[in-house]
Amino acid sequence: MSEWKDICEMDKIVPGDCEMADLEDTEIVICNLEGDFYAIEDTCTHDGGYLTGGKVDCGEITCPRHSARFSVRNGHCLTPHAYDPITTYQVRVKDGMIQVMNQQKD
Ligand code: FES
Repeated sequence: MSEWKDICEMDKIVPGDCEMADLEDTEIVICNLEGDFYAIEDTCTHDGGYLTGGKVDCGEITCPRHSARFSVRNGHCLTPHAYDPITTYQVRVKDGMIQVMNQQKD
């Protein structure tokens, strides 16, 4: 069943910052891009590496293992070594709390 899950208070992730979080059994990364929040699965589609710790710049996250880049906003793969998009999730802020939909976007 699709439902919103509380992740953390919005002021814990300042603009330009990303934090790892658990969405039920899935590890995700929440990024604050200029005040807008985005959620991606913490898994690179190249070789399954964690994206946590990857550089985030201009709305793109770089995999720390082999440098594939992905759009944080829509998950699109932008450069090799990966070719498939990463999983993204809907995010909202309610009463100061970041919430993520527990099913990936279509
Ligand atoms: S595991 Fe991410 S680019 Fe290889």
